[in-house]
Amino acid sequence: MTTGMSTGAKPSTAIAGGGPSPAVAGADDVAPEDVASLQKITSVYVYEAPVRLWHWINALAIVVLAVTGYFIGSPPPAAAPGNTFDTFWFGYIRYAHFAAGYVLAVGFLGRIYWAIVGNHHARQLFYVALWSKKWWKEVLFELRWYFFLEKRPKKYVGHNPLAQFAMFFLFTLGVTFQIVTGFALYGEGLGEGSWADTLFGWVIPLFGGSMDVHTWHHLGMWWIMMFILTHVYVAIREDIMSRQSIVSTMISGTRTFKDDLPD
Ligand code: HEM
Ligand code: HEM
Repeated sequence: MTTGMSTGAKPSTAIAGGGPSPAVAGADDVAPEDVASLQKITSVYVYEAPVRLWHWINALAIVVLAVTGYFIGSPPPAAAPGNTFDTFWFGYIRYAHFAAGYVLAVGFLGRIYWAIVGNHHARQLFYVALWSKKWWKEVLFELRWYFFLEKRPKKYVGHNPLAQFAMFFLFTLGVTFQIVTGFALYGEGLGEGSWADTLFGWVIPLFGGSMDVHTWHHLGMWWIMMFILTHVYVAIREDIMSRQSIVSTMISGTRTFKDDLPD
């Protein structure tokens, strides 16, 4: 664990009562309790650049997929007035869906690669410690915390166990399912013998037919939507209420703790 902080400041502005004075600019605005706090803050580099970059590209791709997918499933009565061939509205919606589908799939493969070569936090997305009693205890503790039944949250460097549970079951499995069923449907359009048909064509008869795959792929969207709604709410809630940084950690990669208590 790395400790200490960087304020990007000019060296050594002496501050009365602060013990060994750290480098802090703007001495007029610095109180002794600020200095005491600064000396305690610890931070850990958690999410490496490829994970952060993937997170935001992936989020954008899923927003495009969900909006365009929704319209593919429930087309507006007239996407635009005029001849559909001339306006090509629905064509553009499907095109955006397929382009975002490629971004999602290639990004996900890259993310799997990074789980192998990146730091150990990069692997959290791909497993859950279902066999560990301690892990389950902490899942229950986090549930109580999210339901406002605990007074003080625990500190986590990576994802907390409940977040990891939701990420694995709702996101990782959900996205894998969407990629497999999505490319199976895409293979129908590309035609028999195409790469998508060769790799994923077997999915269509497995589900009973094209219409069934459409329905399951559609349901898959709502599965992932359950994750996104909770995820964004919890990310913002925990940023405010937890004892560590949350949203900025997915931007800078660094987790900063608000206190130096051991747990
Ligand atoms: C998070 C990921 C995804 C979401 C939320 C999503 C959502 C949807 C939805 C809601 C539909 C309409 C289904 C219906 O009611 O008929 C759809 C259709 C479709 N999706 Fe996806 N999708 C995702 C990923 C993908 C991927 C990776 C591909 C691969 C290219 C893909 C290809 C397709 C195809 C080919 C169709 C059928 C288009 C048509 O019949 O005109 N999707 N998607
Ligand atoms: C479509 C939208 C989104 C999806 C699918 C999504 C998905 C994910 C996934 C899969 C992870 C785990 C990352 C990993 O371990 O590699 C994650 C982490 C994270 N996401 Fe999102 N995300 C979305 C939107 C957002 C938004 C809008 C925010 C900010 C408000 C956000 C903030 C975070 C944060 C802070 C983490 C790290 C959580 C932690 O520190 O434990 N996400 N997200």
